[in-house]
Amino acid sequence: MTATGESLLTVRGLKVHFPIRKGLFRSVVGHVRAVDGVDLDILPGETLGLVGESGCGKTTVGRAILRLIEPTAGSIVLRAPDGNDGTAREIDITRFESRRMKALRRSMQMIFQDPYASLDPRMKIGDIVAEPLRAQGIGTAGQRRERAREVLSAVGLSAEHVDRYPHAFSGGQRQRIGIARALVLGPSLVIADEPVSALDVSIQAQVINLLTELQDRLRLTYLFIAHDLSVVRYISTRVAVMYLGRIVELAPTDELFEKPRHPYTEALISAVPVPDSDRKRRRIILQGDVPSPVNPPRGCPFHTRCRYAEDACAKDVPVTRDVGAGHMVACHLSERLSLEGVAG
Ligand SMILES: Nc1ncnc2c1ncn2[C@@H]1O[C@H](COP(=O)(O)OP(=O)(O)OP(=O)(O)O)[C@@H](O)[C@H]1O
Ligand code: SF4
Ligand SMILES: [Mg+2]
Repeated sequence: MTATGESLLTVRGLKVHFPIRKGLFRSVVGHVRAVDGVDLDILPGETLGLVGESGCGKTTVGRAILRLIEPTAGSIVLRAPDGNDGTAREIDITRFESRRMKALRRSMQMIFQDPYASLDPRMKIGDIVAEPLRAQGIGTAGQRRERAREVLSAVGLSAEHVDRYPHAFSGGQRQRIGIARALVLGPSLVIADEPVSALDVSIQAQVINLLTELQDRLRLTYLFIAHDLSVVRYISTRVAVMYLGRIVELAPTDELFEKPRHPYTEALISAVPVPDSDRKRRRIILQGDVPSPVNPPRGCPFHTRCRYAEDACAKDVPVTRDVGAGHMVACHLSERLSLEGVAG
């Protein structure tokens, strides 16, 4: 995909292959190709949505960018402010050792899906939120407490909450605490991995609105991972669609939903409920299961389930092309097909 030169984060050819070990000697008998050649540019201030069925590799992409998982191949380049004169410089973080990576945690943080599992039940909220500051050796204990209060207040919690334990909070409040912890170091990039999917629908909108408001106020950039396309459509500037470890389509949000160019995207958005019941849409039922990432199909990875597949699709891997205005698609037939999207 085209490099913009102005991306906050540039990912090229990212692969994460997990070894499968068997037997007494734990020999490697194969690999799970969780991420199999991903290119992404995340632009400053945008929300890039990342969607796709369960197991397609979304979380692995997010974790590899933060180097919580070691990439097997590819490169990850971050534009970070230079400490001296405030200008940005590009840093290839792909092979950073843990000490240098620790310093970069100030620029990149993650919000996790499960607000119950991700907070230590034995720690007070103030300490949970201040923990990243302590780990980085920033400030005195008093300054860290003060900063924790400030961030908790930014996410809609009050100073009286700091001495309470996670169990005293609802799911939505716990996710606010998770967001506060992610923001305490003042990152520029936040990777939010299904941040609302564990919450009640009534609470989801509040947390989404909080994320949007914080983005404006703190000039944050989000990689927003989710399988709920309605949420992704609402929050994202652009959307990337993943299938079996690869990005098959990426476009500005309205363009992707109104004029999808990849058959997989068409199928995914055909399943999104339409609020106006007069406008009935056909739901495209995908045939068969998602193939195993241990043995992905040759050629186009989607050909085993694609209703438009032709002979060439099983042989040649489609190259990702820009079909206009930054709309990227990896399908041999994208020029010929007339796919159905949703009305704006
Ligand atoms: N540590 C690991 N070891 C081996 N395989 C793994 C590991 N982590 C993930 N996988 C496999 O990699 C593939 C991608 O997993 P990943 O969690 O990234 O998918 P996902 O798109 O986030 O799915 P979901 O929507 O369910 O969260 C899956 O087949 C998964 O089983
Ligand atoms: S390349 Fe062929 S199989 Fe793959 S999405 Fe396009 S039409 Fe379907
Ligand atoms: Mg996941």
